[in-house]
Amino acid sequence: MDSIRLRSLPRLFLALLLVFVSFGYAMAQGAQPAAGEVGSSKNPSEVGVTPGTVAAAAPAAAAGTTTADPAAIAAGDALFKGNCAQCHAVNDVVVGPALAGITKRRPMSWIIPWIKNSSKMVAAGDEYAVKIYNQYQKQQMPSFQLSDAEITSIIAYTTSQEGVGAVPTDLNAKSGDNAIVDGTAAANGEASSSSMNILLIVLVVVLIVLVVTLVIIANIMKDVLRGRKDLDGRDREQMEQRFDYSRIYKSTAVRGIVGTVFVLAVLYETIQGAMGVGLSQGYQPTQPIAFSHKLHAGENQINCAYCHTSVYKGKSANIPSPNICMNCHSQIKTESPEIKKIYRAIERKQPIQWVRIHNIPDLAYFNHSQHTQVAGLECQTCHGPIQNMEVVYQYSALTMGWCINCHRETPLNTKGNGYYDNLVKLHDAKNGAVPFTVSSNGGTECSKCHY
Ligand code: HEC
Ligand code: HEC
Ligand code: HEC
Ligand code: HEC
Ligand code: HEC
Ligand code: HEC
Repeated sequence: MDSIRLRSLPRLFLALLLVFVSFGYAMAQGAQPAAGEVGSSKNPSEVGVTPGTVAAAAPAAAAGTTTADPAAIAAGDALFKGNCAQCHAVNDVVVGPALAGITKRRPMSWIIPWIKNSSKMVAAGDEYAVKIYNQYQKQQMPSFQLSDAEITSIIAYTTSQEGVGAVPTDLNAKSGDNAIVDGTAAANGEASSSSMNILLIVLVVVLIVLVVTLVIIANIMKDVLRGRKDLDGRDREQMEQRFDYSRIYKSTAVRGIVGTVFVLAVLYETIQGAMGVGLSQGYQPTQPIAFSHKLHAGENQINCAYCHTSVYKGKSANIPSPNICMNCHSQIKTESPEIKKIYRAIERKQPIQWVRIHNIPDLAYFNHSQHTQVAGLECQTCHGPIQNMEVVYQYSALTMGWCINCHRETPLNTKGNGYYDNLVKLHDAKNGAVPFTVSSNGGTECSKCHY
């Protein structure tokens, strides 16, 4: 029995355990998207479409296709969000009825003329049209100049979304509502993360089975050895040995390693803490109303300046007053408890107490219109993917170094700006090879930001 190295068994356990744990950890990490990645794929230029505009994705390709065609569904998705989403959701009553099951209630030969001109059908006395018109307090659905193919693709989209994240009765279920708007994406995300979880569970089970089997094998081998008389001293010692935990505590090597790791961790935290004094990057307070930029600026493509009205004109970007919310919410989601908070603020003539997130100290001067209107920078350059944020957080550091670095690197947007004509000539005459950046124009002089 010399060939069986009993002493190596515990080490084998340990090694296996380590491999499994680190594998499991790596998988769990892989399942979560890195924070910085969130929404980076979203094209910032998609934002900035005014509400109600017809989405550009003309479904020429969708003409005459069947409901299952993914191209038609994608085109329908864009058209639905551009034209119908203010008033309709698929699985939820908004201003108009939930569109789920519409193809079962009504034939396409009814739906198409209805969407093109619903009031004409009501006036003509179509029985169903009159009934639903009365049922919805005689609110008139607008007429749409959409082609038959476009309408078919919208219906293909709504049919594909039926049942996704449906919470028809509970108006308060916020995540459910978002799932409707963002149906496919949310569903995909959940599917992939749940398959990750199943994998992890399988791994853990396999690990437990392995450990149990190895323990059983070890015991059998011990029994076999015990039955034999011709053991040498080393094997006997090995057989009688019990695992001694106190030896781990006493070992200087273990103590040394633990001590060093502890000191390094404390040091690292202290340095990080000291560097972050006065920094509030990532600050994400809870707001008094669960207002979602993802829903408004992302899914519904409401232009930033529709609410932040002074961002292209003035020093600061204002936070909208409740009146702006009421442009839509006098109609939309009027029963939602979150929306009722807006009504309450208006009744009491008190502003909504939004918690301010971005705030540079008064010793520095920052002007929005200089950056958005004159320099033509996108909001996302400084504020990150706001259109994907359920709750806004401070994306950039807002330190002096952050301002200065950008001023060093960013060429001035001088096109069509008469103010810069002579300055550009002067700059090019002196050192034309160097790009004309904000700092070449004095944008890093102390007095530009401090006075
Ligand atoms: C301004 C709000 C509004 C917009 C925008 C709107 N609808 Fe409607 N829709 C309604 C209302 C309200 C009704 C209920 C009937 C009525 O009162 O006229 C309705 C009814 C319907 C119905 C009949 C539903 C049923 O259950 O029988 C369909 C289908 C429909 N809309 C499709 C659309 C589509 C597709 C779009 C986008 C192209 C759209 N609607 C845009 C308000 C709107
Ligand atoms: C429907 C109105 C609306 C639209 C559209 C909108 N916002 Fe906002 N925004 C708000 C409200 C209300 C707040 C305050 C509550 C909060 O922080 O979520 C806010 C807060 C912010 C803040 C944080 C302000 C602070 O306290 O420092 C930033 C930055 C911001 N919005 C940028 C944007 C950008 C960029 C867009 C376009 C992609 C946009 N917003 C579109 C209403 C809107
Ligand atoms: C241009 C139209 C528009 C404006 C302006 C607007 N919203 Fe909305 N809002 C919507 C739409 C569309 C929805 C989604 C409705 C749905 O999920 O069916 C929504 C949903 C919401 C919800 C989620 C309600 C729930 O219970 O699901 C909240 C909260 C909200 N808005 C707050 C605000 C606030 C606060 C303002 C003003 C700063 C505002 N909205 C301005 C169009 C608007
Ligand atoms: C060059 C970087 C930059 C760009 C581009 C930018 N912002 Fe800001 N934003 C800031 C800074 C810095 C603050 C903090 C200002 C302060 O505290 O005075 C801020 C603050 C805000 C606030 C809080 C209110 C305020 O003015 O203090 C809102 C809302 C806002 N920005 C919206 C927007 C929108 C919408 C856009 C795009 C149209 C935009 N920002 C583009 C840097 C930027
Ligand atoms: C993403 C790049 C970027 C960031 C970040 C940025 N700026 Fe700017 N800034 C510009 C550009 C580009 C211009 C030039 C605009 C123009 O053509 O006048 C400018 C111009 C200015 C000016 C006017 C300079 C002059 O010559 O008149 C001031 C003041 C200023 N920025 C302050 C700040 C402050 C304060 C911060 C930080 C809180 C900041 N900027 C962050 C890009 C940036
Ligand atoms: C592009 C704009 C800009 C320029 C140019 C600039 N600063 Fe600043 N400075 C800032 C901002 C923004 C802050 C606030 C940063 C913060 O809160 O972390 C700041 C903060 C400071 C502070 C205060 C630090 C503190 O923690 O209270 C001092 C001192 C300062 N700057 C000195 C200077 C000097 C000296 C120069 C010229 C060499 C200069 N700054 C040029 C934007 C600028």
